[in-house]
Amino acid sequence: MSYLKEVKRITTTGLQSMKVQGEKIAMLTCYDYTMATLLDAAGTDVLLVGDSASNVMAGHETTLPITLDQMIYHAQCVSRGAKRAMVLVDMPFGSYQSDSAIALASAVRIMKETGAHAVKLEGGEEVLESILKITKAGIPVMGHLGLTPQSIHQFGSYGLQGKGEEAAEKLIKEALMLQEAGCFGLVLEKIPAVLAAKVSTALQIPTIGIGAGVNCDGQVLVMQDMLGMNNEFKPKFLRKYADLAGEITRATSAYVQDVKQAQFPSAEESY
Ligand code: KIV
Repeated sequence: MSYLKEVKRITTTGLQSMKVQGEKIAMLTCYDYTMATLLDAAGTDVLLVGDSASNVMAGHETTLPITLDQMIYHAQCVSRGAKRAMVLVDMPFGSYQSDSAIALASAVRIMKETGAHAVKLEGGEEVLESILKITKAGIPVMGHLGLTPQSIHQFGSYGLQGKGEEAAEKLIKEALMLQEAGCFGLVLEKIPAVLAAKVSTALQIPTIGIGAGVNCDGQVLVMQDMLGMNNEFKPKFLRKYADLAGEITRATSAYVQDVKQAQFPSAEESY
């Protein structure tokens, strides 16, 4: 039996069982092959090819500019590196909002061309028809409520969402709608922890929080943020597990110095 066949892939039903058994789900964003092999081997359950690639890989200010073709490229790279983790791909801005037939066509392209296992899209009631169409085609969909960065120009800021009774009620109602429409999970971004806990209890499907407190069924962070690759970004919800910015700068400076002083390569490093 090949190594590939020996490794048990995380599936939507696997994530569902984790919720039932109280095992938290660890999700991270990932955009390339090398990092996919590392994050996968370290036990990450879900690798999200997030449209945050638009920010952290391409240097755009928002997630809006990234295209479906670019998301497909990143997803192909991650799929080649992930042996155990589920590969979940964000549907980019403009690939699903206009109508459900376009949404299905975009989701089909992602599934056909990348080897990924599921798609994620942002929004509530307004994208319900698209979610129904995609799930009916047999494609697993994860929803995303709360702060939905593709709507940044409507929000006006990346501030906390779901504040106040009316907003909280709307979010709970839409979470239930997404579950009803067939979503296998739901990202809750930047909402009060109490509200996220309420949603997580009300839903049978797992919730994955980012800035939504510890009572979600799992957590997600942008990989570059979690690894401390970006010193400027330090929101309250972020825990940095490494200082890669410091380490990369130190290693690169040492390399530059060695090259300048003809200390690299040595005789042992030459043919
Ligand atoms: O694109 C992304 O990184 C995301 C996460 C923040 C959930 O959607």
